[in-house]
Amino acid sequence: ARLAILLSGRGSNMVALVTAVQQGVLQELAEVAVVFSNKPDAPGLETAAALGCPTANLSSQGRKRAEFDADVVEALQQYQPDYVVLAGYMRILSPTFIRAFAGRILNIHPADTHQHQGLHAYEWAFENHLHETKITVHLVDEGLDTGPILAQHAVDLRGADTLAEVERRGLAVEHRVYAETLAELIKKERHAELAEASRVASSE
Ligand code: GRF
Repeated sequence: ARLAILLSGRGSNMVALVTAVQQGVLQELAEVAVVFSNKPDAPGLETAAALGCPTANLSSQGRKRAEFDADVVEALQQYQPDYVVLAGYMRILSPTFIRAFAGRILNIHPADTHQHQGLHAYEWAFENHLHETKITVHLVDEGLDTGPILAQHAVDLRGADTLAEVERRGLAVEHRVYAETLAELIKKERHAELAEASRVASSE
């Protein structure tokens, strides 16, 4: 499967995904078609290039959402992605974008999306002294962090007495589960394709 990975910042989840493609659970399942950013100076873009990934960017600064997203869709389509994988992409996607890749856009949210949506999820967990938070991988729909959940993994926060420690523990889980969830999804899809092909073959 071809992945378009979208980021706006440092890109630690992108690194985890690329590493999984190159030498981990996504090996022989996925390839990185492009790493794209809406911020031309995002540190993650340089990191992606250093890892050998094709990169692209379009600045969203001062652009209207719908028009910008139409340009992004066109740019991404050139890479023919099977999945659009949001990895710290700090934009709400317009309906046009979501429809262009319907059911094929994934996001990772560092909290239980039933309990917390939007920014600052680790601050929220820290300030509320949660003993546990849940990393959520979900499909993206037109709401903010509302799409169908693909996987959730608990992070034990007991004894995490700084925000930095909360983030360190959470990110370690993020980096593992994003690639694993994607691998499961791709395997399921392959299996469904094979089942369909044998169904067609046996009815001929
Ligand atoms: C991660 O915490 C991710 O869950 C959230 O944004 C952050 C991006 O971090 N959506 P990075 O750029 O992947 O390091």
